[in-house]
Amino acid sequence: MSQKPTRRTFPRERNPRLFQPISFRSVTARNRLAIAPMCQYSAVEGVPGDWHMQHLGARAVGGAGIVCVEATGTTPEGRISPGCTGLWNDTQVAAFARINAFMESVGAVPAIQLSHAGRKASARASWLGGAPLTPAEGGWHPIGATAEPFAEGWPAPQALDRAGIARLVDSFGAAAARALKAGFKIIELHGAHGYLIHTFLSPISNTRSDAWGGDLKGRARFLMELLDSVRAHWPAELPLFVRLSCVDWIAGGLTIADSVELCRWLKARGDVDLIDCSSGGVSPRQVIPSLHPGYQVPFAEAVRREAGIATGAVGLIQTGHQAADIIGNERADLVFIARAALANPNWPLAAAREIGADIDWPVQYERANLT
Ligand SMILES: Cc1cc2nc3c(=O)[nH]c(=O)nc-3n(C[C@H](O)[C@H](O)[C@H](O)COP(=O)(O)O)c2cc1C
Repeated sequence: MSQKPTRRTFPRERNPRLFQPISFRSVTARNRLAIAPMCQYSAVEGVPGDWHMQHLGARAVGGAGIVCVEATGTTPEGRISPGCTGLWNDTQVAAFARINAFMESVGAVPAIQLSHAGRKASARASWLGGAPLTPAEGGWHPIGATAEPFAEGWPAPQALDRAGIARLVDSFGAAAARALKAGFKIIELHGAHGYLIHTFLSPISNTRSDAWGGDLKGRARFLMELLDSVRAHWPAELPLFVRLSCVDWIAGGLTIADSVELCRWLKARGDVDLIDCSSGGVSPRQVIPSLHPGYQVPFAEAVRREAGIATGAVGLIQTGHQAADIIGNERADLVFIARAALANPNWPLAAAREIGADIDWPVQYERANLT
């Protein structure tokens, strides 16, 4: 006779804060671990396929509270590479809907990072070196905040004019509407790593003299317009995150003080729920003094404390104890895990075991839960 799988139950209230649920608007994640967005360069015409189902599905099974889909273009030319995912048509919506339904069925909250790669668009996959593609190789002419290229050897983008900005702003709103149809519960805007939004924010890359340049307010205008457009299509009960490069790691670039100021404005809007605090990427001239475990956590901590908005910490967070300390000491509200979760999709389950938290395992895998 077949036996119905049963779950062991524990007094969950004694779990460390990392493994207690957290709510943003109407959405509750089962814990405070999020899988960070990670490009897979494996979509066809922006449509996620079997690779994405297993990549995202395995990490949802692996116990994360939130699983965030990679940087996804709102237009074809907004993708980093021809293999990046997109959200500009209904085929993409249908493919994501299937993946999201699965992720939700195993208890994870599906999130998506909406992005425009700007002057770093039209590039090769990371395992092919990430260099720019020529049109003959299937690349395209990128657009940018200015006509300044990212670096030597990269094409000079076409600087966005007023009409071009308006088209992009609309594309983010349309993508938000599709994200809703596809069943996503969180949208994150990609404002980091030298992609289009970041190149507007940073004084290193934004030398515009019009209303989208100048002081931090002017440079933040593009992001604010994107947020307005997304919120017009994204229900008030669903959360909206923003990933920022909190510092540029270059003299004269964005500082944590600038980012705190920007986050105060984001907080004051009342419609942004969390800042995912990353850094760098705007120029190859950047120098990161020390790549030590948790090196970006101080940014999450500073933004949280000084701007009064929830934050996510990311970057070289590799052990359960490290993640639990960040959350337990209220340095951030979420911990985003990227490479450690590529190496082990069950990283959250392993982290729970490491710190002695009692959590549900997928019933199919329960016999491996030997705690
Ligand atoms: C394969 C891979 C793809 C990535 N793609 C994205 C992306 O799509 N969007 C993004 O904001 N960051 C991306 N990142 C950066 C991660 O989200 C994360 O910020 C970074 O890897 C640091 O976290 P970690 O030390 O846990 O890996 C990517 C990282 C990796 C390893």
